[in-house]
Amino acid sequence: MIGRQVPDVTFKTRVRDDSVGGPNPFRWEDKTSSDYFGGKKVVVFSLPGAFTPTCSTYQLPDFEKLAPEFKAKGVDDIYCISVNDAFVMNQWAKSQNLQNIQVIPDGSGKFTRGMDMLVDKDNLGFGHRSWRYAALIEDGKVTKWFEEPGRTDNCADDPYGESSPQNVLAQI
Ligand code: BEZ
Repeated sequence: MIGRQVPDVTFKTRVRDDSVGGPNPFRWEDKTSSDYFGGKKVVVFSLPGAFTPTCSTYQLPDFEKLAPEFKAKGVDDIYCISVNDAFVMNQWAKSQNLQNIQVIPDGSGKFTRGMDMLVDKDNLGFGHRSWRYAALIEDGKVTKWFEEPGRTDNCADDPYGESSPQNVLAQI
């Protein structure tokens, strides 16, 4: 995985635009892999689903809390990716009061598939989702890789440790 270029995909995001007016002033905005990864040093963590317990209680809030320490190590941005649509990801970010982490909706799973991390979670009624991993990515190239062990379809467990912010921080 180290040295690999991230897949070139277009993400369908929803951004606030007060000129839209009305009770839901958001519009679609396409963002590409190069928008997110080009010319920057970023940490990405990808997880099985917005609002799921481990992700909401530990992984996302802990990345949020430790963000200043990542920045002190020269990380420009921290991204949370999930195979969920932009509406879900935005509501999750809002509910977590995120200030330091940007969520990226990979609703169709194209980025996750391109990273070879798309797994079947039909055992939970989830369809296809991301295996849990994190990575340091510099100008679109993976320079550090943190994948949870045992990647498999319909996995009965949800291992969490390798991709924790504490572990990533200690190793970058
Ligand atoms: C969790 O984050 O705890 C979780 C993730 C996927 C499925 C079920 C639970």
